[in-house]
Amino acid sequence: MRNIATLVLSVMVLVGAVSAATNTVIDLSHYNGNVDLKKAWDDGIRTIIHKATQGTKYVDPKYSTNKAAAEKLGFVWAAYHFADGSNGTVQADHFVKTAGNVRRYVIDLEDNPKGTTVGKQQAEEMVKAMEKKTGQTPIVYGNAYFLDSLNSKILRSCPLWIASYRSSSPRMPKNWSAWLMWQYTDGKLGMEPHTVKGIGKVDRSFLQPPSL
Ligand SMILES: *[C@@H]1O[C@H](CO)[C@@H](O)[C@H](O)[C@H]1NC(C)=O
Ligand SMILES: *[C@@H]1O[C@H](CO)[C@@H](O)[C@H](O)[C@H]1NC(C)=O
Repeated sequence: MRNIATLVLSVMVLVGAVSAATNTVIDLSHYNGNVDLKKAWDDGIRTIIHKATQGTKYVDPKYSTNKAAAEKLGFVWAAYHFADGSNGTVQADHFVKTAGNVRRYVIDLEDNPKGTTVGKQQAEEMVKAMEKKTGQTPIVYGNAYFLDSLNSKILRSCPLWIASYRSSSPRMPKNWSAWLMWQYTDGKLGMEPHTVKGIGKVDRSFLQPPSL
């Protein structure tokens, strides 16, 4: 009996550790088309991180309509900015002005095949400008290869949203020891589930509790 109790207890501890993160986060942009957020809510999604801006001028055409719908339904709302190689302070201005009232701000750092790619200087300038304007440290999104290439102490001080479609545990960038969120699928690669009702295939992420 005692052995069984110990076994049950260790299994519970193990399961507890694995399931500590919640799988209730998606990220969206206009690429997802028309989405039914009520269905997504009923499917268990609670946090939406939406593309707001890119560079110094671009605004995602679905940002404001999806934001209004999500707020009515009670979602936690966060906004992301796809950074490029233009001036970091100007990008931060554009992002903060467009995002409106949000729980958190995210800077998306990745290779840009259709234009200039963000470098260390722009990324760092953006973090500093965001802190000044919002009083919050922004969350940094990226994959290990790209974040390693920037090798920045300033970025390292930001909470990490790691993109890694490996099925076991994420490939971590150097200098970060923990992640706040792990984007485990882009809707095609990575472990299941890949879909959400009302949306279809979509980027999904684990979030460390308690919440954003
Ligand atoms: C970016 O723009 C800001 C505001 O116009 C300016 O103060 C800053 O020097 C610029 N940064 C660079 C690297 O040119
Ligand atoms: C990252 O970590 C390595 C080794 O732990 C260290 O040598 C390097 O200076 C760190 N880089 C930054 C930007 O903190």
